[in-house]
Amino acid sequence: MKVAESPAEARSIRRAIGGSVGFVPTMGALHEGHLSLVRRAVEESDAAAASIFVNPAQFGPREDFASYPRTLERDLERLEKEGVALALVPAPEAMYPPGFQTWIEPGPLAARLEGERRSGHFRGVLTVVAKLLNAVEPDRAYFGQKDAQQAILVRRMVRDLDLRAEVVVCPIVREEDGLAMSSRNVRLSTDERRAAPVLARALAAAAAAWEAGERQGAALRRVALAVLATEPLARPDYVSAADAGTLEEADGEADRLLLSVAVRFGSTRLLDNVILPPGAGL
Ligand code: PAJ
Repeated sequence: MKVAESPAEARSIRRAIGGSVGFVPTMGALHEGHLSLVRRAVEESDAAAASIFVNPAQFGPREDFASYPRTLERDLERLEKEGVALALVPAPEAMYPPGFQTWIEPGPLAARLEGERRSGHFRGVLTVVAKLLNAVEPDRAYFGQKDAQQAILVRRMVRDLDLRAEVVVCPIVREEDGLAMSSRNVRLSTDERRAAPVLARALAAAAAAWEAGERQGAALRRVALAVLATEPLARPDYVSAADAGTLEEADGEADRLLLSVAVRFGSTRLLDNVILPPGAGL
């Protein structure tokens, strides 16, 4: 595995590799969710690339950039073991050199859900993803449904800016008790960790209501919220039943819904979602 420390270095390694490349951008602290993306990238192209970069531009001033989990050596070992050919591990100055001032500005899809609560977050995400895609020149880029709005916005950007990578969205990988894997799960106390599967249970209850014929967004939100309310450690930030195409809250009937929740446990904020009808992808 070749390790690149700058976009320019990554591009020259990628060009030397030749053939098709599948690419997985990450912020590291790799877990099985990330590795599921990496495995698909390895399988579906001639070579796989991944990046590890905790992107300062997507963290707000009161968010956890400084304390975001960092396990670089272990991450590189895992990527190598999976058969990744190129790892891009840039320092912040390599991505944002002095004088940097050009940004990708997302449209209204970024104004809802996570974007509504995390001002500037998706501007930072899209800018770094565009830079990474430009450096690695992949044929396919892999994103998790775990961050559904991010995947939707990246796909929108790729279409709007005629980027050449195909965006592949992969299913959410979960712990045995249903908790969606996340780099931030390590921050949960023992009690919080025990309580955290309530997100998945809330979504499952809403999905069951859907299967039983409920199509009203407001009713599905109520079902999920009622389950979250049974867990005293869970402080819901939002419960959303949104049109999966526009991300607008569905008030009446909708055909394809993105049901998503953001819930705080102490200072840790967890996300989860499900697409309805079950089995429908993004
Ligand atoms: P990060 O949170 O490290 O996630 C990297 C990728 O892994 C994302 O596409 C995310 O959706 C996916 N992922 C995380 N947990 C997952 C799970 N349990 N199952 C399946 N996929 C999962 O998302 C980012 O980094 C950053 O915003 C990034 C795109 C790298 C830009 O900085």
